[in-house]
Amino acid sequence: PIPVILDVDTGVDDALALVFAARHPELELLGVSCVAGNVALDQVVENTLRVLAAAGRDDVPVAAGARRPLIEAARAATVHGADGLGGVELPPSSRTVEPEHAVEFLRRTILAAPRPVTLVALAPQTNVALLLRTHPEVVRHLERIVFMGGSASVGNATAVAEFNVWHDPEAAAIVLDAGVPTSMYGLDVFNEVGVPQELAARLETGEDPLGRVVGALLGHRVAGSADGSFEYSGLIGDAGAVCSLVDPDALGTRRLPVRVELSGYARGQTLVDQRSRPGEDLVHGDGVEWEHVEVALTVDAPRLARVFL
Ligand code: BDR
Ligand code: CA
Repeated sequence: PIPVILDVDTGVDDALALVFAARHPELELLGVSCVAGNVALDQVVENTLRVLAAAGRDDVPVAAGARRPLIEAARAATVHGADGLGGVELPPSSRTVEPEHAVEFLRRTILAAPRPVTLVALAPQTNVALLLRTHPEVVRHLERIVFMGGSASVGNATAVAEFNVWHDPEAAAIVLDAGVPTSMYGLDVFNEVGVPQELAARLETGEDPLGRVVGALLGHRVAGSADGSFEYSGLIGDAGAVCSLVDPDALGTRRLPVRVELSGYARGQTLVDQRSRPGEDLVHGDGVEWEHVEVALTVDAPRLARVFL
């Protein structure tokens, strides 16, 4: 199995990702680190422990990390509801988190792993940036970083910025600059992969207790059009990034220069350079060489949804 660590801000779709990583036989979930994002840190931790308990994986260590982004104040995402789980009620977990900060937990876990670890960031990248700046020795023990975030087209938090990168743009910029092979699972693919509503409903009312949880999470309604109505999205969201670890060929990717916009209205936008030849800005420009990232631009959505199911 692929050794993985998830960094999460649980979150309806982080919950789906946790269930998948916790139960898929080709993944070895070494641990989970929590960061403020969709909801405040304490709620993220609580949600994460509950989801892992529901998945029967109380053995997976969980650590609490950053309470706020590097520079910005924390700004919750409304689409996951006040509790972050869209009102899906899960029994509380009685266990506690690791005693150390997530940054120390990540360092210890990555260095102790017998093989290079795939670090999957499904949240604002504050913990990951702090880790890479504090303990750069982890870099050669990482297979790659796969992050859900950014976009080569439209945004969601703003017209051009995706939520995770928008929430902590400096952290995303640090992570891109750290010299770790990096894969971006952005909105270009994130917005495509979903489960049909009838199937989610069947899961929710079915026999299997974990299936019921997954069905309820998928069935969570998100605020829809401008009239304030609610609609079924069925998106597996962050879980798609984890599914792509076991079925990488479901994604169409290109190695492209990516940079995070840090100022002005476009703050938090990922600039993905899709020109066939580099321009003068990349050659001379401001002297900063753009990092190349494996960017997922297309996805076989039914195939990745099948992997999830
Ligand atoms: C990302 O933002 C969060 O709300 C989701 O959990 C996902 O990680 C999508 O922009
Ligand atoms: Ca998330």
